Amino acid sequence: MWRDLAPIGRDRDSGGYRRFAWTGADADCRAWFEAQARARGLAYEVDRNGNQWAWLGDPNGTDAVVTGSHLDSVPDGGAFDGPLGVVSSFAALDELRRRGAEFDRPVAIANFGDEEGARFGLACAGSRLTAGQLSPGQAAELRDADGVSWTTAMERAGLDPEAIGPDPERLARIGAFVELHVEQGRALADTPHPVGVASAIWPHGRWRFDFHGEANHAGTTRLVDRRDPMLTYARTVLAARDHAERTGALATFGKIQVDPNGVNAIASLVRGWLDSRAADERTLDELVTSVERSAVEQGVTDGVKVAVTRESFTPVVEFTHDLRDRLAHRLGDERGPAPVLPTGAGHDAGILSAAVPTAMLFVRNPTGVSHSPAEHAAEDDCVAGVLALADVLEDLACR
Ligand code: GLV
Ligand code: MN
Ligand code: MN
Repeated sequence: MWRDLAPIGRDRDSGGYRRFAWTGADADCRAWFEAQARARGLAYEVDRNGNQWAWLGDPNGTDAVVTGSHLDSVPDGGAFDGPLGVVSSFAALDELRRRGAEFDRPVAIANFGDEEGARFGLACAGSRLTAGQLSPGQAAELRDADGVSWTTAMERAGLDPEAIGPDPERLARIGAFVELHVEQGRALADTPHPVGVASAIWPHGRWRFDFHGEANHAGTTRLVDRRDPMLTYARTVLAARDHAERTGALATFGKIQVDPNGVNAIASLVRGWLDSRAADERTLDELVTSVERSAVEQGVTDGVKVAVTRESFTPVVEFTHDLRDRLAHRLGDERGPAPVLPTGAGHDAGILSAAVPTAMLFVRNPTGVSHSPAEHAAEDDCVAGVLALADVLEDLACR
């Protein structure tokens, strides 16, 4: 499975993946998913929001146990974020068949569309639509850098944008959702445990900061006459970092757009995206409010107008304690239950948890690096992840 996936959407220079929603690379990943489902005799379907499903047992049955993750990536993403969950799901199903498991609940593997939001700016669009946390109207408003809307891109990929919308009947048929994911930090790295269980996802969101200044000549405009939005932007980045350091939150400006983007021109507009996360919503709120205030104040000094737009927000997710504890015990050994850890990363599991009992497994990542070509998990740990997922599915779905 890894060999098939490895070349899809891989950038030759960076070695990272560029598998953005509804692009050719995404289509190739989706074709791979369908082929894996069909090769195993699973019932394959695409739901109204473009998410893919592979069913063992009745797709219309109730109390289904669902696993899976996503196949899209961030710009220059690693091989594991998303695909590890999908590959492990197919491998866990193979393992259960090898064990001769007798299922008494339907089991499905899902590939949720556009988890990273790399192209249209909103993470988890596929699961948000299904859960009713993104309306069809809002999806139609999402635009990529070329102005193509989410729904148009979906239509060009051969799907019907008229059909998108909440899918409560589907969610009501799911008894449990378990997403396996590469760990995106180092909580497991220095422990003897290759697999942990998620406790919570920090609240997080994305805010667009528009700094409007005045374009002018870099060689002739006196410093005192400039209205340079790059200065306000730069000071805002420092203010965000400073506030995050003081409060234990995280704040990142990782994407920027500059107009007109000329070496010898003062910018007219700098647009920067703040990704911020914190252990609790109050800390996150205070950070964003304070960074916005500081940007506006700095803008007054610099002659720059600042506008801030919240593009997405995901409240704190506390995974169902019963399921979390059941998994931690099932995966425990003589040392005790498997480690239980929170994460600052967002996941489809976090979105679905509002409607379905949901849990996550994390596979050890030796460096903690993620959203980068250097993202890694050792083969032994990946195998341990597959076996852990098989154990969990067996526990939940078998007699
Ligand atoms: C998804 O990986 C996110 O947390 O940004
Ligand atoms: Mn990710
Ligand atoms: Mn992911």
